[in-house]
Amino acid sequence: MRGTNVPRMTTALITGATAGIGAAFARRLAAQGHNLVLVARDTARLREQATELHDRHGIEAEVLSADLSTDGGIEAVEKRLADRRHPIELLVNNAGFGNKGRFLEVSMADELTMLKVHCEAVLRLTSAAVAGMRERGRGGVVNVASVAAFVPRGTYGASKSWVVQFTQGAARDLAGSGVRLMALCPGFVRTEFHERAGMGTDNIPNWMWLDADKLVASALTDLTRGKTVSVPDPRYKALMGLVKVTPRGLLGGVTSRTGRKYGPQ
Ligand SMILES: NC(=O)c1ccc[n+]([C@@H]2O[C@H](COP(=O)([O-])OP(=O)(O)OC[C@H]3O[C@@H](n4cnc5c(N)ncnc54)[C@H](OP(=O)(O)O)[C@@H]3O)[C@@H](O)[C@H]2O)c1
Repeated sequence: MRGTNVPRMTTALITGATAGIGAAFARRLAAQGHNLVLVARDTARLREQATELHDRHGIEAEVLSADLSTDGGIEAVEKRLADRRHPIELLVNNAGFGNKGRFLEVSMADELTMLKVHCEAVLRLTSAAVAGMRERGRGGVVNVASVAAFVPRGTYGASKSWVVQFTQGAARDLAGSGVRLMALCPGFVRTEFHERAGMGTDNIPNWMWLDADKLVASALTDLTRGKTVSVPDPRYKALMGLVKVTPRGLLGGVTSRTGRKYGPQ
């Protein structure tokens, strides 16, 4: 990876590449000269983005339309990740969304869809990618979690907590293999996330918002440093320090409102 000390990364696959944090990963990696495989559901938007990144940076950008809430969509991406003739050196499992509402207010179908996209797809795609990376003795996986992983906050927080635990455990199992895994835990980031979920953001103070491009730059630096969990901003590092020493009951009271109107997603 140019500009970092992760050697010879040439193709990265990013899920949820058309908007927000995924699009920021695509911009940064393309600017560094990496070829890309862009995954999301909206084919027209993917094509537009691939053309723009190709024209601006001279890289190859493949489009892979897939709905990661379906077995067919996950299988299509697994197949691309397992293609030994066109290896993927960096996987960014980023696709995700929020559901508005408290427990029992969100439909069971929506809860299960979230677990499919945030957990099952991440498990299956990480496994498909890492098998080849381990054989080649190099590669990286960034699994986008959230600071919500560290607070009691419904299915969203639980799913992101799974992402953190899974990634840390897999990173430990793969230590010494040349494959790096890292869970990325952002706070509030200005993206399409809250609008798509129908969540208001008026009550979120300005200082809590992160910029997606800066977040991605920090995340890639943390990956090259070998971190397994990245909380990229000093503001959120400090907040997470506070969370660690706050009793769970009190924390639950504060965070139970989140994702219902606003809160770190
Ligand atoms: N924004 C925040 O405050 C925040 C904070 C912490 C963590 N995160 C996490 O960061 C990740 C990215 O979120 P974002 O804020 O960048 O959101 P975003 O702007 O809404 O972008 C979400 C991306 O995911 C794709 N996507 C959604 N559902 C999908 C599915 N079923 N299959 C394939 N692709 C799908 C979307 O494209 P299509 O609609 O075309 O499929 C889009 O490219 C998520 O995992 C989120 O939980 C966000």
